Amino acid sequence: MVHGSLTRREFIRAGTGAMAASAARKVTVLESVPLSSYARAVSPSDTVRFASIGTGVRGCELLQASLHVPGIECVGVCDLYDSRHEAAREAVKRDVPATRDYRRILDRRDVDAVIVATMDHQHRKVVVDACAAGKDVYCEKPMSHTVEDGFAMVDAAQKANRIIQIGSQGVSSILYAKAKEIFDSGRLGEVFMIEAYSDRNSASGAWVYPIPPDANQQRIDWNAFLDGAPKRPFDPVRFFRWRCFADYGEGLAGDLFVHLISGIHFVTSTNTIAQRAQSTGGLFRWKDGRDFPDLIETFYEYPNFRVVLRCNLNNEAGGLIGFYGIKGTMIIKDSTLTVRPQDTRPQPESYSIYGWPAKLRDEYLKNWHEENPSPAPRDFRVVEEVETFATPPGYDPVPDHQANFFNAVRSRKPVVENEVFGNNAAIGCHLANYAYFNKSVAVWDPGAKKITRG
Ligand SMILES: NC(=O)c1ccc[n+]([C@@H]2O[C@H](COP(=O)([O-])OP(=O)(O)OC[C@H]3O[C@@H](n4cnc5c(N)ncnc54)[C@H](O)[C@@H]3O)[C@@H](O)[C@H]2O)c1
Repeated sequence: MVHGSLTRREFIRAGTGAMAASAARKVTVLESVPLSSYARAVSPSDTVRFASIGTGVRGCELLQASLHVPGIECVGVCDLYDSRHEAAREAVKRDVPATRDYRRILDRRDVDAVIVATMDHQHRKVVVDACAAGKDVYCEKPMSHTVEDGFAMVDAAQKANRIIQIGSQGVSSILYAKAKEIFDSGRLGEVFMIEAYSDRNSASGAWVYPIPPDANQQRIDWNAFLDGAPKRPFDPVRFFRWRCFADYGEGLAGDLFVHLISGIHFVTSTNTIAQRAQSTGGLFRWKDGRDFPDLIETFYEYPNFRVVLRCNLNNEAGGLIGFYGIKGTMIIKDSTLTVRPQDTRPQPESYSIYGWPAKLRDEYLKNWHEENPSPAPRDFRVVEEVETFATPPGYDPVPDHQANFFNAVRSRKPVVENEVFGNNAAIGCHLANYAYFNKSVAVWDPGAKKITRG
């Protein structure tokens, strides 16, 4: 029962908890302000000139988003498939030079930074070469295809003193900033349990992308695509639906767990790797020759909490990250964030005493109320209200994430998601797959920098 006449954030229960009550609700639309902090005039000499390596679906999205970021200019695009040169030009600039060979981009002295949005198995090679060529790098998630790839990339970035941003854009979102603020404030109390999911129910969600009619070996540099993977005859299914195959991607873990893990690490300031992971799941529906399951659930052990993640390609449940604390529950669901307090005020035990004779029960209740006189006189009891935060309509964190990177390129200040953060999150994905495919506990060995069987 909500009393509108009460000015404090409160709900009221009559008696000693017998009446159910709902909490007041407050909804705040967050202001989409961060870009304005980057928007202060950037002098032409401070313009960051970048090129994009890999201009497929994501590469084009990133190019479009880059148009909203002040003080940057796309000066080159690179892809192995000629039609994607055209798509990139349509996305960013009609006359931008295009090439199939990323080394030609890295050789250019007028390129300060590169965006790497290739398939995952090519991230290592391109990022290591880019660092060696003195470029700062925005590399798409998941940072690594293997544990070894990730550490090679960390070494390359640090050796060359380059700025690296990994592309889990959620960590630059105004919603996650609010979630972190609430988590850090202690409002949730201690949080021992975090659960998250990312579920879809469509062919596109299961990566069954159409093959374009001009997909042939004249238009696609198939051998360059196979670099770092086993040799095979030309197969457009592998090129366009690469996420299904272990030679190039990491399935659901690399595609979607990585966003959840990055979000959880960001909100909880956990820049480490889970100690152990166990997975279950299966390939139930999308049996098209793929290597990966269409359902995976993974249980992670971190030093201070446990995490359960799920990705299911057989039901459209959307995405959620839930933080279940002693004092409150915080749920990030799509574009909203809800904080719901737990009622932790003292109450008489009200379950087991109903197995007592009435006399003992009454005595217990009487004593309890004597020992706990508040909240007299009318048993008004105050809890925090339920609060919901939402992003404004059309809000997209990608320009924020890019702006964070390009600003760092200019200022040499740290980014929000550097190579160590990205590597830790990606290893969470590798732990999940290791546990799934080996049907065993996956244990992270930090000394050996390896996953071992538990
Ligand atoms: N952050 C996100 O939300 C998000 C969303 C989608 C994809 N991604 C990531 O972006 C990356 C690309 O995914 P996508 O969906 O765009 O794949 P895609 O298949 O549409 O595009 C990848 C492109 O990379 C090109 N490529 C591969 N190796 C190359 C090389 N050596 N030189 C130049 N080009 C090369 C390919 O020709 C291809 O066109 C992946 O790492 C993926 O996980 C991130």
